[in-house]
Amino acid sequence: MIDLNLTTYILLLLIPLTFFFFTSIFYKLLIKPTEKHGLKSYPLIGSLFPLLENRHRFIQWTSDIINNTPTKTAIIHLPLGRVRVITANPTVVRHILKTSFHLYPKGERARHTLFDLLGDGIINIDGDQWKLQRQISIHEFNTKSLRNYVEHVVDTELNQRLIPILTKSATTTTVIDLQDVLQRFAFDNICTIAFGYDPKCLTPSMPDAVFATAFDEAVMISTGRMRASHPIIWKLKRFLNVGSEKRLRNAVAVVRDFAVKLTREKIIELAKNENKNSSLQSLDLLSRFLISGHSDEKFIADIVINFILAGRDTTSAALTWFFWLLHKNPRIEAEILNDIKHKSENLTYDEVKDMVYTHASLCESMRLYPPVAIDAKQAADDDVLPDGTFVKKGFPVTYHVYAMGRSEELWGEDWAEFRPERWLEKDELGQWVFKGRDGYEYPVFQAGPRVCLGKEMAFLQMKRVVAGVLRRFKVVPEVDDGVEPVYVAYFTSVMEGGFRVRVEERGEIE
Ligand code: HEM
Repeated sequence: MIDLNLTTYILLLLIPLTFFFFTSIFYKLLIKPTEKHGLKSYPLIGSLFPLLENRHRFIQWTSDIINNTPTKTAIIHLPLGRVRVITANPTVVRHILKTSFHLYPKGERARHTLFDLLGDGIINIDGDQWKLQRQISIHEFNTKSLRNYVEHVVDTELNQRLIPILTKSATTTTVIDLQDVLQRFAFDNICTIAFGYDPKCLTPSMPDAVFATAFDEAVMISTGRMRASHPIIWKLKRFLNVGSEKRLRNAVAVVRDFAVKLTREKIIELAKNENKNSSLQSLDLLSRFLISGHSDEKFIADIVINFILAGRDTTSAALTWFFWLLHKNPRIEAEILNDIKHKSENLTYDEVKDMVYTHASLCESMRLYPPVAIDAKQAADDDVLPDGTFVKKGFPVTYHVYAMGRSEELWGEDWAEFRPERWLEKDELGQWVFKGRDGYEYPVFQAGPRVCLGKEMAFLQMKRVVAGVLRRFKVVPEVDDGVEPVYVAYFTSVMEGGFRVRVEERGEIE
């Protein structure tokens, strides 16, 4: 490890900055860029300037570019000949996620970028390793006993933590950051489901639990690597063990030590309970993996860390935007209240299934504000996409979920409208029936062989939270008229700056 003093550190920073300053003057004054579908590209540095100019709104910028391209597939040229293919074309999405699945793995680039945190976990592997983890996990996810356990965990967290915090906020008329509250809720939930460990992040003092803080930091820095103009930047920092890479190393150590410690404790606990008929209804994923014979500590820690990442900020992101859209659309809020008003306090599985309008509203909300905005694969060989785009071996190919949700071709002229009815039709009794969309037109949960494993679990959690919150409270955002919150995408999306709201007691639903 190399220890640098401040002067060396400043020099290391100043040299590339000065170089960049003079290069940009040279380029802007002397070189004429080529332009395709509004995207400027210069020799050698490609679209570096527009990329940097739009860095803070990368998702919106790329979405506009793709939706202005006739094929809905754009090629972005990056410095030093690197190329990124981005698509919002459902035929191409089907090609990369299903028809030519074997040609579009996650690839080594993504794997290296996320390896420190995710290791060999399901989100970060390909081939036979992935197949094995998928099989093991799918088996557990399909069990009724896991579903019962998830219902129990969600209801406990809802009744004992979320509702009391919202009640307090309503009685004291304090403004809260609902995004933060929902993230804490989801983190407690997924840790309990994955590990059987409750970090208690959603308690009145809103504590910074060590594990949660380290996990947050590790995710933020790992995804920051993906956005670096060139991977050499983070690789150099990691080699020197400085700045964010030093913090990442420390955070990952905390997360991994914690996962391994819990695994060891769980092995001892399971051995003690071996003869005590402990019910599967109350078992977390970690215990289930151990019981089914997988006891390698690293393997298990990787799996569980990956599940926490997958299930943590996705549902909270979806719910944050959902409550925002409901505030702007009182008619839809009324329909949802209608969906929940005759149902029991602690919903049964069938009652949740019956919340068809709420289900459609969640789908519609995630169309406009997907929790995962973009997802990248890497071509394992040369290929030609169905729209004629040539892809060279090694090119990253990204499908742009956010752009697809905002495509006029896919959703019609009123694509900007929050209209759950586009997911519904009426049956002969006049009841709403859910009408699904092709997964390649709406890849919010990805699609094909790697489709999200937690989709059912996510809807189950979200619908329970929506019913639990809306039947008691009205959520009123604290934003000035005409101000729209900003959608920012890291690994998952967030509302920039949080979601400040007041909560009002609703009284009886009419
Ligand atoms: C609204 C909530 C959710 C959304 C929108 C969502 C979306 C996605 C997406 C887009 C992927 C593909 C990511 C990639 O390959 O890089 C994915 C994969 C995955 N999700 Fe979800 N997810 C949600 C909730 C959950 C939950 C609650 C879990 C449960 C732990 C979960 C478990 C997984 C797993 C294990 C994978 C990896 C599947 C594989 O590669 O075979 N997800 N999800």
